Parts: sequence; structure tokens; C-alpha cells
Amino acid sequence: AVEAKIAPSMLSSDFANLASEAERMVSFGADWLHMDIMIDVDLQDGYVSDLAKALLLFFPIYQKLADSCHFVQNLTIGAPVIASLRKHTKAYLDCHLMVTNPLDYVDQLSKAGASGFTFHVEVSQDNWQELVTQIKSKGMKPGVALKPGTPIEDVYPLLEGENPVEMVLVMTVEPGFGGQKFIPDMMNKVRTLREKYPELDIEVDGGLGPSTIEEAASAGANCIVAGSSVFGAQDPAQVISLLKTTVNK
Ligand code: DX5
Ligand code: ZN
Repeated sequence: AVEAKIAPSMLSSDFANLASEAERMVSFGADWLHMDIMIDVDLQDGYVSDLAKALLLFFPIYQKLADSCHFVQNLTIGAPVIASLRKHTKAYLDCHLMVTNPLDYVDQLSKAGASGFTFHVEVSQDNWQELVTQIKSKGMKPGVALKPGTPIEDVYPLLEGENPVEMVLVMTVEPGFGGQKFIPDMMNKVRTLREKYPELDIEVDGGLGPSTIEEAASAGANCIVAGSSVFGAQDPAQVISLLKTTVNK
């Protein structure tokens, strides 16, 4: 069977003490550290001219378009923070990119010391082959993530052919924030995927903890991201160990 990888989500850590938070999680038994990268261009601040900005102001439809250009409504960390953290830890850094143009960050994240590079299928329709090739050529493990509203079939093409991704991240909450409620319906996706791919790394992310791990593990998830349930626990080591034994049993 596939091996359990428990990945505390550093989004729930004290960002001002990232190195010691990482060290603490590794000492508590974490296999990976999950890094939520939410950085994005803003149509209004970034790419567009003053004229287009004026248009954005007058036509609400343009505003809608501009809003949809953010993959999530949050900003967290980017490659400079990964590079700083890398100087303090040898841990596997499992990077989850919630950005609209993942290809733009392959080079800088590999130089920063990222270990896994997981991009979203919703933004990679045209260029995933190039993306996967580049991620692998930089020595990172390519993964694809999908939002709760995206059907599992959408990732199948990325798992077939000569250059497949090596992990699928099934989002069990809407991406953007930690501390949300696990969506049990997503276990159908995990089950379907596990039946088709017995050896694949299947990661679940969002609302995982002692009360939901049983369901996720029995559906076939083996990589478990857990933010608030680990960082909010009295005894994080005990939670990590419970997650791990549940997956491995
Ligand atoms: C949400 C992130 C998650 C988040 C999970 O967009 O992808 O990694 O940190 O946090 P919890 O475990 O608190 O739901
Ligand atoms: Zn994540």
C-alpha cells in the first residue's frame, strides 16, 4: 500500500517564527511541510494600462473579470519565504500553488528549494505538459490539485501518457483559507481515483483532523494536509501520530 505522509499546513503556523515552527513540526513526526502559496497578479495593479483601469471602474463586468483573475482571495507566501525556510530545514517542502500562472514560478521555486510543486488543474488546461516537464527537469515532484467543484475526470489526462503528474491533491474545502469544514462528498473523488491508481500519492487538503481522518483514509488518501487541527492541538505530536497510524492501518 502507499505510505502515509503527514503534512502540517504551515498556513496555520506563526509566520513570524516559521523556522522554529517547521522544526517543531518535524520533531513531532511530520513527514512533509505543506506550504500554501497564494500570490497573484491583480489586473488593476499589474498588467493593465491606465485606460483599462478607467474601464474597470466604469463597467462592473470588468471588475468581475478582474476579481476572477485572483485564484483565491488571500495572499500568503512566495519563493523568498521558501528560500529563507530552506536554510533552516531539510524537510520536504510540499508546495501548493494557488495562483493563475504556475509556470511563472517553477524556476524561482526550484531555486528556493521547493520539493513538491502542485498546481491547479483549473488554470493549466493548455500548458500542463510543459509545466510537468519543467517541474521534473528542476528536480521537483509534480502534482495536480482540484477544487471541490471540479470533476475528478479533469485530472485523468495528466495521469496518462509519458509525462504524468506524481500526485493528485483533492481539495476538501474551497482553497483560500485554513480552518474550514471538511466536505465529505469529496471522498467519492478519492475513492474513484484510488480504484484506478492503486500506487498514486493522493493528498487531501482542508478540514482534516482526528474527526475526519478515518473517512479520508478509508477512501484511499495517503498524503494528509492538516493545518488548524495540528497547530490548534494541545498535543500536536499526538494528532500527527493518530493521522499516520490511521492511514497506515
Ligand atoms: C487552503 C489550504 C490548506 C489549509 C488547510 O487553501 O490549501 O492547506 O491550510 O487548513 P486546515 O487544515 O485548517 O483546513
Ligand atoms: Zn494547501
